[in-house]
Amino acid sequence: MRKIAVLTSGGDSPGMNAAIRAVVRRGLSIDMEVYGVYYGYSGLMTGNIKAMNAGSVGDIIHRGGTILHTARCLEFKTDEGQLQAIEQLKQHGIEGLVVIGGDGSFRGAQKLSEKGFPTIGIPGTIDNDIPGTEVTLGFDTAVNTVIEAVDKIRDTATSHERTYVVEVMGRHRGDIALWAGLTAGAESIIIPEVELDMDDVLKRLVEASNRGKKHSIIMVAEGVCPAAEIGKIIEEKLGFDTRVTVLGHVQRGGSPSACDRMLGSRLGAKAVDLLHEGQAGKMVGMQNNRIVAVDFDEVFNGKLPVDLNMIELSKSLSF
Ligand code: ADP
Ligand code: F6P
Repeated sequence: MRKIAVLTSGGDSPGMNAAIRAVVRRGLSIDMEVYGVYYGYSGLMTGNIKAMNAGSVGDIIHRGGTILHTARCLEFKTDEGQLQAIEQLKQHGIEGLVVIGGDGSFRGAQKLSEKGFPTIGIPGTIDNDIPGTEVTLGFDTAVNTVIEAVDKIRDTATSHERTYVVEVMGRHRGDIALWAGLTAGAESIIIPEVELDMDDVLKRLVEASNRGKKHSIIMVAEGVCPAAEIGKIIEEKLGFDTRVTVLGHVQRGGSPSACDRMLGSRLGAKAVDLLHEGQAGKMVGMQNNRIVAVDFDEVFNGKLPVDLNMIELSKSLSF
């Protein structure tokens, strides 16, 4: 394989640029030509494709977002859209594609592989919601962003002796809430995978208050319910002075952490190596600190068990 391309698709995540850099530079280092596709599958269908050199990816390893931009593209979900994309790739003489994105992007990547165009996926999403890899690109940075914000909230919470409900991203997966909640010392962590026990949340708040605690943080993943609903219940039932903070898209930006730069670099290089070996229809991921290749089918059928021990640990430490 002599010519490959790389694109980013779906929600962006910190570390995508590190992965793009690794794909380009690993490709160049083994005498491949590497192309960047702009605006995800949308740019693939319209041929928004440009040749990259080592300088194209200079000075980006520390930047959040994606220099290739990203998009969501409904047309690409159709057979016609996918065939149009393959036609564009062929016109450029491109023989393999690296797709950096989440679950939806991988479904598109699998369709390309099924239609005979070799594609490898790199799991890029802050949600840490992709089976087959212990961690996704951007998750570590997002968790660090959340704890930095909560550390600040804690200052004002203590001054005013308030309870704060902090809403973080995660529609179906509570890992950001779980990791950030544990590492920021939240009183309770509320995630989609575990049924909400509001009585327990209230009980823990009262116990903490009785012990003289000056503030409390409740961490809730967006997929459960709006944080404002939790805040309202706390005020109504306990009369505690409560504020709500929705961190929102701030979690998706920022300079990637060392872990995400490392992960992006390792995954990017491995994706190119797999294409070079003639492999396709796979995601690269991390298992036991080793970079592995996992079939897309395994990714789509895989389970993501929640680590209940982490919730228990958090409860046992935050009183
Ligand atoms: P993410 O990759 O972050 O999960 P999306 O679910 O929005 O983001 O998917 C990104 C893009 O991937 C979509 O806009 C679409 O172009 C493509 N895609 C998603 N699902 C499919 C599918 N079932 N078949 C083909 N392409 C898909
Ligand atoms: O990337 C995943 C995610 O961050 C979700 O947690 C969130 O709900 C969603 O993306 C929002 O994405 P957008 O606003 O780009 O549609």
